[in-house]
Amino acid sequence: MAARKYSYRGIHTIKNPFDWALYSLLLWELKPRTIFEIGSFAGGSALWLGDQLDSFGIDGHIYSIDINPVTTVSHPRVTFLEGDGRNLGATLSPELLATLPRPWLIIEDADHSYGTTIAVLEFFHGWLDRGDYLIVEDSLSAGKPLQALEEFLRVCGDEYEIDTHYCDFYERNMTWCLNGFLRKRTAIGEVVPTFPPRDLGEPGLPEWDQFGLNWLGDCVDLWERSPENPGAVGELNYARARYAQLWYDTPGAELAARWHSPIGQGYQRLIRSRFPQQPILPTDLDFLLTFVEYCSGLPEPEGSIRAAIVALAYPIQALNREAWERICPQLPDWLAPDLAAALTAAISVEPTQIL
Ligand SMILES: C[S@@+](CC[C@H](N)C(=O)[O-])C[C@H]1O[C@@H](n2cnc3c(N)ncnc32)[C@H](O)[C@@H]1O
Repeated sequence: MAARKYSYRGIHTIKNPFDWALYSLLLWELKPRTIFEIGSFAGGSALWLGDQLDSFGIDGHIYSIDINPVTTVSHPRVTFLEGDGRNLGATLSPELLATLPRPWLIIEDADHSYGTTIAVLEFFHGWLDRGDYLIVEDSLSAGKPLQALEEFLRVCGDEYEIDTHYCDFYERNMTWCLNGFLRKRTAIGEVVPTFPPRDLGEPGLPEWDQFGLNWLGDCVDLWERSPENPGAVGELNYARARYAQLWYDTPGAELAARWHSPIGQGYQRLIRSRFPQQPILPTDLDFLLTFVEYCSGLPEPEGSIRAAIVALAYPIQALNREAWERICPQLPDWLAPDLAAALTAAISVEPTQIL
């Protein structure tokens, strides 16, 4: 969707035009003094929030938190922090929270997984006072943030109003934040709910739905324009690891069909971007070893699949000699020449630097 390609002051920002306008309305009407954004991406939305506060004369501050913190954007009203929505207590201390002026506005816009959404909701619940707002973005994503929102409201729904003034402003739920504008009705600590223990599941998008594939395409675009962007690098690293797992889990007989499926096409786009040639993380090494072992058991696959597997192994160039020596003897005959070619192709790293 075109909204996913939008930029603000040249910085990629993901909001649809209806929600931009709703945010603007809410900022003017609520006049938040403290905003928490979980999920900064490139920093554009936090920058926009900062500018809006300035132009509305609101003396507020934004704390924008991401597992890949933004370092390339700055605004006097914005603090970018590194943090995980699933463990916000590690980033936001009670001492800091106790000092921050009201009203608060919380924007949950991280990986849109069930687990992250519910963790963010439950973390902030104990800190919200009457009149504070909490927004759950992109609630229809495959990761089921809407389910998290509904479960949260089953426990403490009496304490919130779903503010239809915003959700239904244009038409019923004509927003990406379905039933996702919550206003706290009760004072801080008035009711103390007990949240049941939960299985948070895996972070990130659990299904390769169209939303996820569009998102991947947008991140590739962004990375090609600005290779240093931490949001794009973080998301593409995550996608690469997921694809690696996907190929690894796919039975040999199904490789070809999967290669030509929309999921496979997403991967081909990733390969064309040459992102797979980025150095791997030390934690990827174990996976790579297992992956090569897996390849050893496969008969030689058709050309395009072999290309996929080789592309996946491109980061092998970033391995040191010791790691390479561990992997080399395990390479199946059909993979070894391609990998050797990849190594000598001097794509981003000179082979002599590695071997
Ligand atoms: C949808 S984007 C944020 C979009 C941004 N607010 C905007 O409007 O442009 C999601 C961001 O969440 C971050 N993220 C993913 N999982 C996270 C987690 N568990 N905690 C915090 N941030 C996370 C990703 O790194 C990514 O930058």
